[in-house]
Amino acid sequence: MYLTKDEEKILDGEKGEVYRKALQTIVKVGEVLGADRLIDIAHAHVSGVSYYNIGEAGYKFIEHLYLKGAKTSVFSTFNPVGMDLDLSFIADIDSFFAERQRKIVEMLLKMGFQESLTCTPYLIRPPVKGEHLAWSESSAVGMANTYYGAYTNREAGPLALFSSLVGKTYYAGLHIPDERTPTIRVSLSVERLFAVDESVASAVGYLIGQIVKDGIPYIQLKYRPSFDAVKAYTAAAGATGSIALSYIEGLTPDYHKFSDYKLEKISIDDKDVQDILCEYDTSYEDIEAIFIGCPHASLEEIIYVYELVKLCEDKKQRPTIIVSTSRWVYTYLDKIGLLEGLKKLDINVIKDTCPIVSPVFRSKFKKIATVSGKAYFYLPRQQSQPTILLPKKKLSEILCGRQ
Ligand code: F3S
Repeated sequence: MYLTKDEEKILDGEKGEVYRKALQTIVKVGEVLGADRLIDIAHAHVSGVSYYNIGEAGYKFIEHLYLKGAKTSVFSTFNPVGMDLDLSFIADIDSFFAERQRKIVEMLLKMGFQESLTCTPYLIRPPVKGEHLAWSESSAVGMANTYYGAYTNREAGPLALFSSLVGKTYYAGLHIPDERTPTIRVSLSVERLFAVDESVASAVGYLIGQIVKDGIPYIQLKYRPSFDAVKAYTAAAGATGSIALSYIEGLTPDYHKFSDYKLEKISIDDKDVQDILCEYDTSYEDIEAIFIGCPHASLEEIIYVYELVKLCEDKKQRPTIIVSTSRWVYTYLDKIGLLEGLKKLDINVIKDTCPIVSPVFRSKFKKIATVSGKAYFYLPRQQSQPTILLPKKKLSEILCGRQ
């Protein structure tokens, strides 16, 4: 691999052992993937920071870097952790866990990371078309490539952390324009709903992930999808498959280059979507909790739930409502006075964490309903939590008892 003089100096240990190791690892991974050089990145985003997921081994890894004086050299953010650092549900966290988790966050902040604690880093710093990133949260990677037209592979957490230190990644995979060609064309019979309804976008992503696996789908679409629909789609497609880039017609930068490109075709129809969505499930009475916010909820998603519940404020009993979001959105909610209103309606807004990366939610409810395909995929697998993927139109029925 060709290396610049500065990169060689780092490999010679001029900046210290921790940077030498970081760069050496990136070079080795790059060589395996056929990279001929390294490139600068504009933003690193690191997953794998919940003590619940990484345990003592992950803690020691971060502690080692911290004690060796590692500092970020580019704009760097990190994922949700295992608990809300300030409040909600915290009583259920044991003190050793809480201490370890707080320490992880403290070390990352001292290393120069932004106080992000979110899987929606694009809301903190929206990527620019064509810029290179090293991101390791699959849902965020999907958004970066698909919505913003930035270039990132789906990195492992430790590698993205190394990239945050040296500000570089290897030039291979989705960093190379020629490697970003779609592999399959997808037609949808639910185009209009895909564009506006996160649960339908989730179901489509869930199916495409299963079918296309690590390919690059080109989705034919007549309607421009909402931001939240794309967020739900990319998260689900990255959960059931390893999809890091999709072309959505009319939305993804450069999609027009491939409008007439000859590709194998598949179609997803109403029946496929209905089979994933719990359309005809009659056991809604088992639902003990509704979960919104995987990936972390946007302001619009939270306002939607707020307005819905407000309509039937007087209803005595409804499932526990959990909304997970970023600190940035949470602070904004507070600033505009909506946080208080949400609390009054018993809408539990948690920040910093989510039900999938926190021990608090393990097997907590008889059944959770969610409109997120990613949560529908992971809650049963990681939290032994029975979960259904709920059509968004059913939310009002469950929260307000109305059709
Ligand atoms: Fe984010 Fe947790 Fe879902 S980290 S993408 S809300 S699994």
